[in-house]
Amino acid sequence: MKRIFSGVQPSGNLHLGNYLGAIRNFVALQNDFDCIYCVVDQHAITLWQEPEVLRQRTREVTAGYLAAGIDPKTSVIFNQSQVAAHSQLAWVFNCVARIGWLNRMTQFKDKAGKNREKASSGLYVYPNLMAADILVYKATHVPVGEDQKQHLELTRDVAQKFNNDYGVDCFPIVEPLIQGAATRVMSLRDGAKKMSSSDASDAARINMTDDADAVAKKIRRATSDSEFLPDASVVGPDGQFTAEFRQARPEAANLMTIFAALKGEELSQAVAEFEGKGFADLKKALTDVAVASLGHMGAEMKRMVNDSHYVDSVLRDGAERAQALAEPIIKEVYDIVGFLRP
Ligand code: TYM
Repeated sequence: MKRIFSGVQPSGNLHLGNYLGAIRNFVALQNDFDCIYCVVDQHAITLWQEPEVLRQRTREVTAGYLAAGIDPKTSVIFNQSQVAAHSQLAWVFNCVARIGWLNRMTQFKDKAGKNREKASSGLYVYPNLMAADILVYKATHVPVGEDQKQHLELTRDVAQKFNNDYGVDCFPIVEPLIQGAATRVMSLRDGAKKMSSSDASDAARINMTDDADAVAKKIRRATSDSEFLPDASVVGPDGQFTAEFRQARPEAANLMTIFAALKGEELSQAVAEFEGKGFADLKKALTDVAVASLGHMGAEMKRMVNDSHYVDSVLRDGAERAQALAEPIIKEVYDIVGFLRP
């Protein structure tokens, strides 16, 4: 049976990349599968977080899940720190994963920056905790944006090595689900950079809580080029923009990708719509579709965060259910490893 697990860090504003790359897919999967969606607060503190802000953002991500349409009755929604089995399994995985594997993680290199000596050790072993998040439920499928692909490869390696070392068939080899038209949404200011909550400029991203005016302003100011929008020759046989086009005109590729994803249409259809037109036409249409799809979610999120009783009750209930799922699995692992249960 398929079991879905995924998580989002409460370390900044939820943005359009999180929505199109991940959360929207979480919603689509919940009707067919057993889904567990986590707010990964322990991952967030690998970089400094103000405690009060972390609490607030944990509620905000939860509200984002709910406003996007995840049903807390069918799916399990909870925050990571409330289920101790994640940390328990992460320690075991710290002893399974090899340092050489962690040294290859590009996200660590990006986030640690030049001064690696000053990065927290948590940031370094972060992928082991991520593997534990998934495998402590024996989840089989993980919906994520493209930037998480390398971490999921490490999760597969960890599962495989654990199974081999102990001669068991305990953990499944997970499949990433990198789906949808926009698996890598780029910054509005620089089409070569990923849209990210850590970008110093708020104008680089559309936040899920931005109101119509903010969305319109950010799209209007988004970086553009001076050429007309292209014809269908820039769409490859896989239905995606060709690498040449993305490299030559990253901003045009990004805005058209976002437009098609929000509108729920094929890229080729969006390209046909704007062929020979200028950026102004695209930006106007994109603003309309972005406001129409995000507007109600942002308002709903703000309402839920202001009255947090409901959000807190969802997290409490989810933590109990997650705990019940994780408990027998961590016990099984402890027995395999040889931890005495006197
Ligand atoms: P995080 O919190 O950075 O992002 C949450 C999800 O949003 C996706 N995403 C994007 N997708 C498309 N374009 C973008 N610009 C963009 N930015 C973010 C991410 O791919 C992710 O799916 N390590 C994870 C959180 C995590 C996790 C897990 C995920 C912890 N444990 C277990 C899956 C399973 C992270 O930092 O995501």
